[in-house]
Amino acid sequence: MKKKLFIKTYGCQMNVYDSARMADVLAPHGYAPVDAPDDADMVILNTCHIREKAAEKVYSELGRIRLIRERRAALGRKTVIAVAGCVAQAEGEEMRARAPFVDLVLGPQTYHRLPEMVARAARAGGVVATDFPVEAKFDELPEASAPQGPSAFLTVQEGCDKFCTFCVVPYTRGAEFSRPAAQVLAEARKLAAQGSAEITLLGQNVNAYRGAGPDGESWGLARLVRALAEIPGLARLRYTTSHPRDMDAALIAAHGEVPALMPFLHLPVQSGSDRILAAMNRGHRAADYLALVERLRRARPDLALSSDFIVGFPGETEADFEATLALVRAVDFAQAFSFKYSPRPGTPAALAEDRVPEEIKTARLHRLQAELWEQQRRFNESKVGTVMPVLLEKPGRHAGQLVGRSPWLQPVHLDAPARAMGRIVEARIGAATINSLAGRALVMEVAAA
Ligand code: SAH
Ligand code: SF4
Ligand code: F3S
Repeated sequence: MKKKLFIKTYGCQMNVYDSARMADVLAPHGYAPVDAPDDADMVILNTCHIREKAAEKVYSELGRIRLIRERRAALGRKTVIAVAGCVAQAEGEEMRARAPFVDLVLGPQTYHRLPEMVARAARAGGVVATDFPVEAKFDELPEASAPQGPSAFLTVQEGCDKFCTFCVVPYTRGAEFSRPAAQVLAEARKLAAQGSAEITLLGQNVNAYRGAGPDGESWGLARLVRALAEIPGLARLRYTTSHPRDMDAALIAAHGEVPALMPFLHLPVQSGSDRILAAMNRGHRAADYLALVERLRRARPDLALSSDFIVGFPGETEADFEATLALVRAVDFAQAFSFKYSPRPGTPAALAEDRVPEEIKTARLHRLQAELWEQQRRFNESKVGTVMPVLLEKPGRHAGQLVGRSPWLQPVHLDAPARAMGRIVEARIGAATINSLAGRALVMEVAAA
C-alpha cells in the first residue's frame, strides 16, 4: 500500500525545489505526496531560518503535527516526523531536545540519504544529520520525476561565501557550490520535454555560478544561460537570487542579447546608505548599485528591477534610512520585499549594541513600503493598454479564465480557453491593480520559442 507523504515548505524557492526532490527520493520507497497532514504516514517540515518568526512558526506547527501523530497512534498508525531545511541545520541536536518527538532532523545537504535515515530512525529512534556533503546531494538525488508544470525551478548553485553580517545562510547552507553545467542542461532538457516553457535558475548567489563546463572550462552564469536558451521549448529563463557584486559584464551583455532571458531581475541591495552597506559587509556602495542598474538598463531598456531591503539594521540613523529612500526613488523598482532587521544567533550583527528600537523599525518599514508600493502600482499601471506575451500557468477564479505571468513576473488574469494552459499567448492588458494585471488573450499561438 502507498504511504502518504506530506511536505510543508517555508522560506525561499530553493526550499520549494528541495521539497520536490525529497518527494522524488522517497517515491521509490512507496511514498506518495498528499495535500494535508491529517492522515500522513510521514510529515516533513522544510524550514527557513532567515528571520525570527520563521523558526517560531516551525515549533508551533510541530505542536500541531504532534497531536496528529497521537491521534493516529491511538488507531495503531505510525507517523514519521522530519524537520528539514535551514532551521534543522541551525538547531541540530537542540531541536530534538526541544521537540523530542521529532524523528529526523536533516540539513539541506543530506536529502539524498533520506530513505536510509527513515529506516535508521525506525530502528534506532531519532536521527540528526547536519553535515555538508554538497556534491553528493546533487550527484545522488534521483532525476526529478514529477513534471513541474509550465514554469519550473532548477537549482544550479547552493550556499554562500559572502557572510553579510546579518545573514544565517552561509551557516545553514554552507560554502558556495555550483553544479556541473552538463548536469544542469540535462535537467533543463527533461523539464522542457515535460512541458515546462519557463525555467528559473536558483541559487542563494546564483550569479556567482561557476560550474564545470562540458568543454573542460569553468562556466559562468552568462554562458550557462546562453546554452539553456538553445534548448527547444524553453522560451523563458530567469534566475534568482543575485548579488550586485557578482553581476559581471558577460551577464549584463546576456540580458541584451538573449531574448529568452526575461526583462525582470531581483537584485537585492538591502540599504542605500554606504555606512550601513559597509557594516553589512555587502562589498559595494550605493553609487555602485545605481551604476550597475544603469548598465543593465542600457543593455535591456525594458528591464524591471526588484530588490530586498532591511530597515533598522544596528546603528541605522534617520540619515541612513533617508539614503535608502533616495536610492529607491533613483532606481524606481517594479516590486520589492522589505523586512525589519532581525538579529540571528551566530551572526556578527546580532552582537551589535546600537540596536534600533522596534517602534522606529516599524515606522521606517511603513515609510519604505509606502514608497515601494507606489512604485509597484505605477509600474503595473504602465502596462495597461499594452500587448504582451503571457505564460499561462493555472486556472483562474472563474470559468473561462486562466492566470499567467508577464515577462516582468506580474500575475496576469486572462479571459482565455482552458486549452491555452501551459502556452504563451499574446494578451492585451485592460486593467492593473497593485498586485496583478488583467486582460484578454489575442492570439492562441505559442509565441517565440
Ligand atoms: N542571497 C540573497 C538573500 C537571501 S535572504 C542576497 O544576497 O540578497 C533573503 C532576504 O532576507 C535578504 O535579501 C534580506 O533582505 C532578508 N534578510 C536576511 N537576513 C535577515 C535578517 N537577519 N533580518 C531581516 N531580514 C533579513
Ligand atoms: Fe545572505 Fe549575504 Fe549570502 Fe545573500 S549574499 S545569502 S544576504 S550572506
Ligand atoms: Fe530560508 Fe534557508 Fe532559504 S534560511 S531563505 S530556507 S536558504
